Amino acid sequence: MADPHSVDRVRALRDTLRHHNDRYYLADDPEISDAEYDELVRELQGLEQANPDLATDGSPSRRVGGSVGATFAPVTHSAAMMSLDNAMDESELRAWGDRVSRGLDGAAGQFVCELKIDGLAMSLRYEAGRLVQAATRGDGRVGEDVTANVLTIGDVPQRLRGAPAVLEVRGEVYMSLAAFNALNDRQGALGDKQFANPRNAAAGSLRQKDPRVTASRELSIWCYQIGLVEGGPTFGDHAESMAWLGSLGFTINPQTRVVDGLDGVYAFARRWQAHRHELAYEIDGAVAKVNNFEQRQRLGVTSKAPRWAIAYKFPPEERFTLLRDIQVSVGRTGRTTPFAVLEPVFVGGSTVGMATLHNQDQVALKDVRPGDTVVVRKAGDVIPEVVGPVLSKRPDGLAPWVFPARCPCPLDTELVRIPGEADTRCVERDCPFQRDARIIHFASRGGMDIEGLGDKTVFALSDRGLLADAGDIYTLTRDHLITLDGFGELSANKLLASIAESKSRPLPRLLVALGCKNLGPSASVALAATFGNLRSIMAATQPDLATVEGVGPVIAASVTRWFGQPRNAAMIDKFEAAGVEFGNVERSLLPQNLVGLAIVVTGSLDGFSRDSAEAAIVGRGGKSPGSVSKKTTAVVVGVDPGASKLTKATELGVPILDEAGFVYLLENGHLPEVLSTP
Ligand code: IVH
Repeated sequence: MADPHSVDRVRALRDTLRHHNDRYYLADDPEISDAEYDELVRELQGLEQANPDLATDGSPSRRVGGSVGATFAPVTHSAAMMSLDNAMDESELRAWGDRVSRGLDGAAGQFVCELKIDGLAMSLRYEAGRLVQAATRGDGRVGEDVTANVLTIGDVPQRLRGAPAVLEVRGEVYMSLAAFNALNDRQGALGDKQFANPRNAAAGSLRQKDPRVTASRELSIWCYQIGLVEGGPTFGDHAESMAWLGSLGFTINPQTRVVDGLDGVYAFARRWQAHRHELAYEIDGAVAKVNNFEQRQRLGVTSKAPRWAIAYKFPPEERFTLLRDIQVSVGRTGRTTPFAVLEPVFVGGSTVGMATLHNQDQVALKDVRPGDTVVVRKAGDVIPEVVGPVLSKRPDGLAPWVFPARCPCPLDTELVRIPGEADTRCVERDCPFQRDARIIHFASRGGMDIEGLGDKTVFALSDRGLLADAGDIYTLTRDHLITLDGFGELSANKLLASIAESKSRPLPRLLVALGCKNLGPSASVALAATFGNLRSIMAATQPDLATVEGVGPVIAASVTRWFGQPRNAAMIDKFEAAGVEFGNVERSLLPQNLVGLAIVVTGSLDGFSRDSAEAAIVGRGGKSPGSVSKKTTAVVVGVDPGASKLTKATELGVPILDEAGFVYLLENGHLPEVLSTP
């Protein structure tokens, strides 16, 4: 028995550690250093080791582990982690059913139907009943060691009673919708990046270098397979093996059903397609598996997936909703984009209130009119799309939508469409909407990367007259920010810190952030390398600029014109007065994690302009070619992608990424394990 002093000390240490955990990862405002924190953890671990009767699974000593700062070592899976073949509709599911029946000479019996959890696959290895390793799927053969992080997942048993010598259990780590929404609320309140969907949030949370961050993220797991057993029971079928895992303490999804015959499979798939959003977590399909292990043996596997199982993927969801209005937004170059203002509708796992309509011709083609009931579609986390009107529901006398003749900004100037061009533009240089868009571009990830200074904050500051141009960003104070909606002391300080940090961005990024027409990342790198300083670039003559390799006469003319405008020169003066570095050429602050990768971007993205996306790639050592080839690492697809690039990528089997996947790639230097294919 532990002495009373140890009992009290352990209790006190646990409370203290929980408090510091909250300060660290919930409030993002730690009160003690990492070293002091580690010291407390070690003291607690020492006491728990000396007094095993005091140890509990929920102790913060266990939940965070001591491996802070661990990177992810490769793990070779003892049995390959296979993937599943997909059936994209019911006829493909039936075709699989027919193949299985034929493969078993018409004797197909029982199937296990499971939900296809939208998370990421995990392999848990237990030796003598202790969790010794947790690894991601990786390429199926080699994954990443994320043990320290998985130890923080409450659902994952760390000790098994009556376990075999070796046991490997596979399952899907996921984040419940409640945990996801709470996380995004917290991120939003702190001005931190929000996650696109629970799967990305789960993947991002598992790949944390600091397990304390993972611990704060409320991950869960559903287990769906035994990978390996040594020195343990053998089973005749899957259902039996799952029941055994359940008895050992693993979480087995309660919706799992054993059905007799294929009709049961089809019914299960249809049922969950209709009811998927009644669950507390996201699923992207249903999985059917032959139950009997001897039958599985007879069916065998292909190089990639077992023949005895299939994933039935749910089709993109469509919902009806009211099109309240069509409005236009104005970009930094004056280009206007119509977008649909919708009666908010829950589709594809989130509530959609707005959707882009791309341009005037697209609206005309779809002939959607304010007042129409429209079909809204969203597949995975692709940007929502208005498919078209439901004509049978169109009220009598509903007038077609007419593209506005004037800019929606307070200046109310005339919009211009040049014949032969798809875009209608605002050509007023002083348009406040363009100005806001230029400031948003300046602060965006591909520009000066000022975290927390997104659209909403820029609009709010601009409304108060605090941002006449990007130069004014550097004059913002706590008092300016604190009164904004959604801002508190913490988020104001955070934003001020990121503004201060942005002053030392490398020169090529500053150049891209300025938003000078035609001046993309490659030319910016060339100009920075040649002239070394923003002032020298400004002082250079147009012919001097034009001779720089990778610049040329068009860019040179545009750069000269841009710097020649008094208001731009005045903005540069503001930067200088604020201490923005003009000559940071040597140090790239970006990790060079994309060297050797070629990433093609097509369509428009939310957080990046075309230039800033290219800058983000080139700045990390990657290439951003204009077309897709065999050598392309990935194609990033935004709204309105080039059809030929998409087709080519599909033909060549080049991975396709959405924006969230792109951000992941930029941050991690490799493709996300789970491709959120648009
Ligand atoms: S079984 C050999 N069952 O889907 C069988 N996988 O597309 C291996 N997944 O990598 C997988 N729910 O990450 C299985 N009930 C379930 C699943 C499931 C989600 C994921 C898993 C796998 C991917 C295959």
